[in-house]
Amino acid sequence: MKLVFATHNPNKVLEIQKMLPGGIELLSLDDIGCSEPIPETETTLEGNARLKAKYVRERYGYDCFADDTGLEVAALGGAPGVFSARYAGPRADAVANMRKLLAEMAGCDDRRARFRTAIALSLDGEYHFFEGEVTGEILWEPKGDQGFGYDPIFMPAGSGRSFAEFPLADKNRISHRGKAFRALESFLKGRV
Ligand code: IMP
Repeated sequence: MKLVFATHNPNKVLEIQKMLPGGIELLSLDDIGCSEPIPETETTLEGNARLKAKYVRERYGYDCFADDTGLEVAALGGAPGVFSARYAGPRADAVANMRKLLAEMAGCDDRRARFRTAIALSLDGEYHFFEGEVTGEILWEPKGDQGFGYDPIFMPAGSGRSFAEFPLADKNRISHRGKAFRALESFLKGRV
């Protein structure tokens, strides 16, 4: 069975392919010739993930899953949320996004935050949703040099270190993304 993972990143495809049952051949967007940007115009992570899976299903005819992740900060009413990648502007990089977040939270003692990943799977004409989250807090300044995105300013609850101080395998064990993909994996294992 061929299944598309709505990403252009071959490393992500390889990593997830290893988790899936043997009967599934995972394809990337590049593998199916999809190079145009897929709209992400919804206001929720689930909505955006569903939009991407639906786009691939309708235009390319493949079963597909798509993920969307956001950092949700309690004191900011859940921002940056779906806008995490472009919080400081359409071309913002991780440093600019972190700088903006720290500025928005200057003097704010409520540092509670969570990362959340939503996955939408379009399979045989039906949608299935999976989710993973990790709670923690926003640090006062960046720490560590591993990972990506907001990792240097996010400390998972009880860990005493930022995500950027975690080796990747340790991060995957507790992360939003790790949990969401393991939920997808166990669902697919029951289906194939
Ligand atoms: P995406 O949906 O996986 O592309 O994630 C959207 C944005 O959320 C990324 O551009 C990052 O800014 C942020 N993000 C997602 N996952 C992580 C993570 O594991 N650590 C830090 N930032 C993340």
